[in-house]
Amino acid sequence: MHLTKEEEAIYDGEFGATRQKAMEILVALGDIYGADRLIAIKSAQVSGASYKTIGDAGLEWISSLEGKVKVSTILNPIGMDREKWREIGVSEGFAARQKEILRVYERLGISLECTCTPYYTNSPALNDHLAWAESSAVAYANSVLGARTNREGGPSALAAALIGKTPCYGLHLDKNRAPEVLVRVNAELHDVDYGALGYVVGKSVGDRIPLFELSSIPSKDELKAFGAALGASGAVALYHVKGVTPESSNFDAPTERISLDLEDIKKIYDDNTPDLIAFGCPHCSGAELRKIADLLEGKKVCIELWVCTSRRIMEQHEDVVKLIEKSGAKVICDTCMVVSPATEKFERVMVNSGKALQYLPNLCGVDAVLGSTEDCIKTACG
Ligand code: F3S
Repeated sequence: MHLTKEEEAIYDGEFGATRQKAMEILVALGDIYGADRLIAIKSAQVSGASYKTIGDAGLEWISSLEGKVKVSTILNPIGMDREKWREIGVSEGFAARQKEILRVYERLGISLECTCTPYYTNSPALNDHLAWAESSAVAYANSVLGARTNREGGPSALAAALIGKTPCYGLHLDKNRAPEVLVRVNAELHDVDYGALGYVVGKSVGDRIPLFELSSIPSKDELKAFGAALGASGAVALYHVKGVTPESSNFDAPTERISLDLEDIKKIYDDNTPDLIAFGCPHCSGAELRKIADLLEGKKVCIELWVCTSRRIMEQHEDVVKLIEKSGAKVICDTCMVVSPATEKFERVMVNSGKALQYLPNLCGVDAVLGSTEDCIKTACG
């Protein structure tokens, strides 16, 4: 990979050990994936923020870093709500280590927004190059906004943030953004059906790029849930939907085809009773908070109900949050049902997210069942 003089000097350690380590990570990745150079990025999003996922070894590594990030950088959800961690049953020991992680990231100049939906507050523009780590945010940036990012790991996103560049390979290049399999959906879909569709298709396409022919255009929130499920049950980082993905008309339709009917999608719904109901994977938008508040109006929950969102979105919708909390539900920031250890005390979690459906059994050891937002609230209120 070609390096400029300045990049070479960083690689040789002339700008300190932290930037040298970051450059070594980027060069190693570039060499593995055949990048010819580094390209400037507009922003980074760093995963590996929850103490549950990085543990003491990760904390030790990030604590050894110095200096500041070079581009706007935001953190993925952590393992607890910074203010209400006791309310959801997080231990003192966990909270102390989690706060230490936040202090380290803040010292590096990273915004402690702690969300998997960074595009709600800082939306990238068409063709912007990014280094984002959260898979659902990667799918949204590539597929809905037409920005360009690979699925970064926590260390590579952090390295890109510290240098302000990323190796130019994969989804940064036009030639790698063409659809590889056409998925025709013969059904009208609504709400959680898109998460279910993503869950089903992700399992069969893996990391390939699907092009969807849908009978209607999903809303922005439905696209968010759809991409999150595709990225979780498969490893899809870019999907095309005609009429949505800015570049979808630039490519020929692939010859490999899959056809799905409503029964193929609905068969993954389950009716087992949960002991926790959790919304907000990915983090809720303002419109989703409003919908949940409307559905909860005049009701009381009899099963624990969490609504996960970013602190920024919560602060912008304080009235709606109060309405949700009036029902006994909890609005939780900075974290989510997957990355917080607080979920592990439950047995079965009902979600309206195809991504959480995939991750909860694997990462939290709890059963997960899928339902529409309406069905989740009906179940919560008995
Ligand atoms: Fe976000 Fe947690 Fe889901 S990080 S995408 S809410 S698993």
